[in-house]
Amino acid sequence: MNRAEVERLRAATAGCARVIHFNHAGASLPSQASLDAIREQLQREALGGPMEAVDQSIQARARTAAATLLNTGPEAIAFASSGSAAWGMAFNALGPWQTGDRILVGRHEWGGNLACIAGPSAPVHNWRSSPATKRARCP
Ligand SMILES: Cc1ncc(COP(=O)(O)O)c(C=O)c1O
Repeated sequence: MNRAEVERLRAATAGCARVIHFNHAGASLPSQASLDAIREQLQREALGGPMEAVDQSIQARARTAAATLLNTGPEAIAFASSGSAAWGMAFNALGPWQTGDRILVGRHEWGGNLACIAGPSAPVHNWRSSPATKRARCP
């Protein structure tokens, strides 16, 4: 992606002109195209009913677009209702975890991810900060 493409994308995202936004883990600034799509969907739901407004092809098209963006196939793309839900599914797919397994996390790990690690399917007993996690700080 070159500078002109970055500028084009920034221009298509109104918030970029107002703030420097780093909280993409929480949620990114929506582009005008995203806002338009959300408005159109809400309008369809308002006029025809939320269940009736479901368009199954949207997810398939989004999967293909995400796969193209990530240079992979659509079969490698999964969607979830939230980042936490997706992270939890990916984490749980790594198991089954056994008592005594060690999971190293950074000092700034998202609390929701820690709660998932500590959940009933992940018997983690020894919460402490290791030297490795202390060294992993960003400069
Ligand atoms: C760093 C970080 N990780 C994960 C999440 C959770 O994302 P979601 O609300 O999509 O579950 C957030 C939400 O703010 C976050 O800031």
